[in-house]
Amino acid sequence: MTEKGRLVIVSNRLPLKIEGSPGNWLVTPSSGGLVSALSPVLRDRGGIWIGWTGTSEIVEMKTLREILGPASDRAGYRVFPVLLSKEDVEAFYYGFSNEVIWPLFHDLQTHCRFEPEYWDAYRRVNSCFAQAVRRHTRTEDFVWVHDYQMIPVARILKKSGVKRYCAFFLHIPFPAPDIFLKLPWRDDLLRDLMEYEFVGFQTPRDRRNFTDCLRALFPGAKISGRGPVVHASADGREMRVAAMPISIDYRSFRTLAKSPVVLTILEELRKQIPREKIVLGVDRLDYTKGIPQRIKAIREFLRGHPEYREKLTFIQIVVPSREDVPSYRVLREEIERLVSSVNGEFSTPGWVPVHYMYKSIPREELVAYYRLADLALVTPLKDGMNLVAKEYCTCQVGDEGVLILSEFAGAAAQMHREAILVNPYDVNGIARAIHAAVTMPLEKKKARMRRIRVGIRRQNVFWWVDNYLRASTGKALVDFPEAELAPVFHALKRSPAGEA
Ligand code: UDP
Ligand code: G6P
Repeated sequence: MTEKGRLVIVSNRLPLKIEGSPGNWLVTPSSGGLVSALSPVLRDRGGIWIGWTGTSEIVEMKTLREILGPASDRAGYRVFPVLLSKEDVEAFYYGFSNEVIWPLFHDLQTHCRFEPEYWDAYRRVNSCFAQAVRRHTRTEDFVWVHDYQMIPVARILKKSGVKRYCAFFLHIPFPAPDIFLKLPWRDDLLRDLMEYEFVGFQTPRDRRNFTDCLRALFPGAKISGRGPVVHASADGREMRVAAMPISIDYRSFRTLAKSPVVLTILEELRKQIPREKIVLGVDRLDYTKGIPQRIKAIREFLRGHPEYREKLTFIQIVVPSREDVPSYRVLREEIERLVSSVNGEFSTPGWVPVHYMYKSIPREELVAYYRLADLALVTPLKDGMNLVAKEYCTCQVGDEGVLILSEFAGAAAQMHREAILVNPYDVNGIARAIHAAVTMPLEKKKARMRRIRVGIRRQNVFWWVDNYLRASTGKALVDFPEAELAPVFHALKRSPAGEA
């Protein structure tokens, strides 16, 4: 890679998604931590983002140009869309990505469906992405592939003789060998990962699980070195492996939290929900997030502490996600049943204990909710990092909030001293943590929250990206050329592989 190499992000999703049907397209921001974290990085520096449009409908090239061209110009980086057919979305996205790797890597094997056709689709779609990388990048570019949907890209590129420096970051956890070994395609997937020069994980535990899997599957595998980056050799391949926790754009959340627009929304919310204590949960609809256990914990808390009835309100925002996967539909029904049962048990005239929203909300509104909440319940059963935890703390303008955090979220590795840690399966334990949070003296809350916040300010997403780039390429973010904002789409044609 020379000095002129550009930063190229490859991820399943683009930061924008297209919904609807011909003549009636709707373009909205994509949800989830990956997009939240990477968007400010590319906005800051420019570069290229290759990813799926989020729809399996056929979108005409003219429409794609109209929709993504201006968005790409505004954002300050180029967007190259990859188109997927209905079959691809079924078998690659819903299938292998979200019914095999997602549940397995979150230690929830009972949600897995190991269908052989899913694996074929996974490789087929990854070939489309590899082809898009080949067409839109140059040898000197830094190709940074993200997350579990895209693991095979580097190996496919190499097999087809394309020379690119490829690094990878896994946003979700990496499981221990006893779980990973259940995967019928375990050798292939590990070999795919080993074709990257550099692989980053969220926490030391994820990295250790990965190196343990290398040792388990490739006798003679060697791991050497200490610190955040170690050297691994296995099956004739050499690579470097890092533990580097991702973060958020601290300054942009903090500035927004203090902005007049957020203050106006906050004042309105305070009028509408005039309670002494507000508890908040914000999650994509996902069985990894521990939402039912959390609602049950609220029920236990209200049963055990009647003095908080009519005083404490729980707001749970659930962002729709992967609605075509059966487990997600079942989960939604379970959550809605629980909300209605808790509200049925405790509501009084003028007070509803659980406010439940099933929708995506604009950033300003989200930040106003973060400010409104006296405590945040971030209790995933397992999570790569969990950016909601970091966003909530960043938005505590007076440092008065309390974070209740699952010990199985990647964020706990950094925040375990100042947050109240809970086992997300322990409903009574969460209820006790809620009580500890609502009775915590103000000075103690402030001191703890301030320490978390200072940590996030120092180790923000730009710190993360700089560390990652320096460790993998020896360059920093500022060393990458700023966006070349020439017209984006004039050279694009739909290829037989489905790539635009
Ligand atoms: N978020 C969103 N839309 C919303 C509410 C929240 O995109 O309506 C964002 C939130 O700000 C956070 C991300 O979704 O950045 C969730 O990231 P997290 O790491 O907590 O979990 P993930 O969804 O990636 O599993
Ligand atoms: C998590 C994953 C991302 C994914 C996001 C939203 O953050 O790590 O790769 O993009 O969830 O999920 P979705 O399936 O909508 O892309």
